[in-house]
Amino acid sequence: MNKTILLLLLSVSLFAQKSFKIASPTDQISIQVSQGADRALKYQVFYKAKEVIAASDLGLTLKKPALELRKFQILGVDSSIVDGTWKPVWGEVKEIRNNYKELTLHLKESGVLMDIIFRVFDDGIGFRYFFPSQDNFKHFIVDNEWSSFTMTGDHNVFWIPGDYDTNEYTYQRTKISEIDALAAAAKEKDIAVTSLMGKNFVQTPLMLKSVDGIYLNVHEAALVNYPAMHLKLDGLEFTSALVPDAVGNKAYVQTPFNTPWRTVVISNKAEQILASKLILNLNEPSKIKDSTWIKPQKFMGMWWEMHVGKANWPLAGGKHGANTENVKRYIDFADKHGFDGVLVEGWNTGWEDWFGNWKEEVFDFVTPYADYQIDTLTKYAASKGLKLIMHHETSSSVTNYERRMDAAYQFMVDKGINTVKTGYVGKIIPRGEHHDSQWMVNHYNRVAEKAANYRLMVDSHESVHPTGLHRTYPNWMAAEAARGSEFNNAPTLGINAEHTTILPFTRLMGGPMDYTPGLFHMNLNQFDSTRTTKVRSTLAKQLALYVTLYSPLQMAADLPENYESKLDAFQFIKDVAVDWDDTKIITAEPGEFVTIARKAKNKDTWFIGSITNAMARNMSFDLDFLDPDKTYEALLYRDADDADFEKNPEAYVVEKRLVTAKSKMTFRLQRGGGCAISLRRLN
Ligand code: NOJ
Ligand code: CA
Repeated sequence: MNKTILLLLLSVSLFAQKSFKIASPTDQISIQVSQGADRALKYQVFYKAKEVIAASDLGLTLKKPALELRKFQILGVDSSIVDGTWKPVWGEVKEIRNNYKELTLHLKESGVLMDIIFRVFDDGIGFRYFFPSQDNFKHFIVDNEWSSFTMTGDHNVFWIPGDYDTNEYTYQRTKISEIDALAAAAKEKDIAVTSLMGKNFVQTPLMLKSVDGIYLNVHEAALVNYPAMHLKLDGLEFTSALVPDAVGNKAYVQTPFNTPWRTVVISNKAEQILASKLILNLNEPSKIKDSTWIKPQKFMGMWWEMHVGKANWPLAGGKHGANTENVKRYIDFADKHGFDGVLVEGWNTGWEDWFGNWKEEVFDFVTPYADYQIDTLTKYAASKGLKLIMHHETSSSVTNYERRMDAAYQFMVDKGINTVKTGYVGKIIPRGEHHDSQWMVNHYNRVAEKAANYRLMVDSHESVHPTGLHRTYPNWMAAEAARGSEFNNAPTLGINAEHTTILPFTRLMGGPMDYTPGLFHMNLNQFDSTRTTKVRSTLAKQLALYVTLYSPLQMAADLPENYESKLDAFQFIKDVAVDWDDTKIITAEPGEFVTIARKAKNKDTWFIGSITNAMARNMSFDLDFLDPDKTYEALLYRDADDADFEKNPEAYVVEKRLVTAKSKMTFRLQRGGGCAISLRRLN
């Protein structure tokens, strides 16, 4: 990275008001920090000279020592410019540019030294608080953080209710003034554990759009040793609302200490929000020196058949899904169709009373059920070049998991298993902690770090919202941490048609999602005629999600028998890549539609995914990203003319076309529909 020290634009005006301004490398975005006569600091953000974040608060209140760090003496100011590139271990693009200007205010208040560091990129801003090592101030407890984001109008906003324990809500789209988290949450009946914060609380990533078409995404980056930031709304001002621990404290800190970055991604183009790498750039480089063992993967699973009632997790009850014979069937199918792995849930003892008792001892993570011959299966999988993926449902007894992690990870290594799907369903133990509190944030990070020591890849479910830490721990491949495809089977709200057009603008801003797409059988009463749940998506849309919902771990979620009956459509899931050289966000609008093209890693093969909400649309775009001198065979997996997510979801057409970089790609997305395209170079 090139770092250059800048001369700062500093203006000291009359009435002792000081202000500091710093602009992004091409001047698109700027931050102005001002200190009033009361010594409080406020920041404003401008996009192309237009104010997009109005004067907003900075500072913290501490407990022990009880201090208000909200008015400051400015000791000095530094600034610099950084421009460099780095290569992710895996990702949406093979190289990422990190180019920003930085402004650091060195501050003092009540004897405490601290810095506020601002970074201004061409696609947004980040700021954080830093407490250097200092005599007489080594430990402190955070009571509140006052970072706020004041909007300049009553924007449209895409939000989920503020909650200490879950991010599995349906997204709402309202004006800021219409936010009512309690009313929205009252409609949800299928989320295991909720701890609502109140009517005016929402979660990040929060997506906003102003009436004049400016998109703003508020989130955080590098969430380490601190609770998650949710937001409290007052008028047009969103203020940081940190998740408390069991006794109401927010964070226990020892200097030197950095808070996570508070981020706002800004553009007048929705596509630029999805293309932003700001959150990744604000995370630390990989801590894993040799990352050759970290591999993007496509996998199948002994999974959905338990959700839809064909089988079950516990051995008792006579429907145990994870039996040797059944898992062999999955391995055979996965092998025949070229997958990397097979996830097995319900393999270990403890599922008989795993949920709802808030009990300490649940699973031991090393004892398979009697009918699950783990050695036979891991060897069988290995003989076919496949790996099993281990499931560790902690039931949120996290103290139990912490005690057993080493043994469990060693067990995986001994069995030749290198990927673990963790889960946190239930109320957290330590009792009184929350899924999003500092203790749990540290736990998730510890899992990533410890798993790396055992060379294991991690896919976490029900974990805190991701904040780009997959740069630092590239073995933490994906997380669910939002309403995933499993909610198609939730009776009350299920998954509506717009959900997957909102996810890229919200949850995925922080990192890859294990959404588990690929459902082919939309009526979920296949094995239990009493069920009324339905997948509210066309089949072609399920295929397109492999491109529009980025993840280096992608599951083919449905049952082998449901794929067997539609092998021509299944071909797309077999072909689609999970690691990329390049990504083009072709067109996108939150809540409406998303179209993305991606070039497979080290191959001249492109994949396109295009999805819509409940509205049918005609799509048309240029293929000018293709190699100009070549011809490509495009296979379109599109909605049939009579497809409709409610009336005829499984109707699709596979169509072949020859295209070049000069061609226009056109197709129609039916209601709740999608189109998946593979483009193979011919010459
Ligand atoms: C919730 C997870 O998201 C899901 O994938 C898993 O099957 C269940 N918990 C059981 O652990
Ligand atoms: Ca879940």
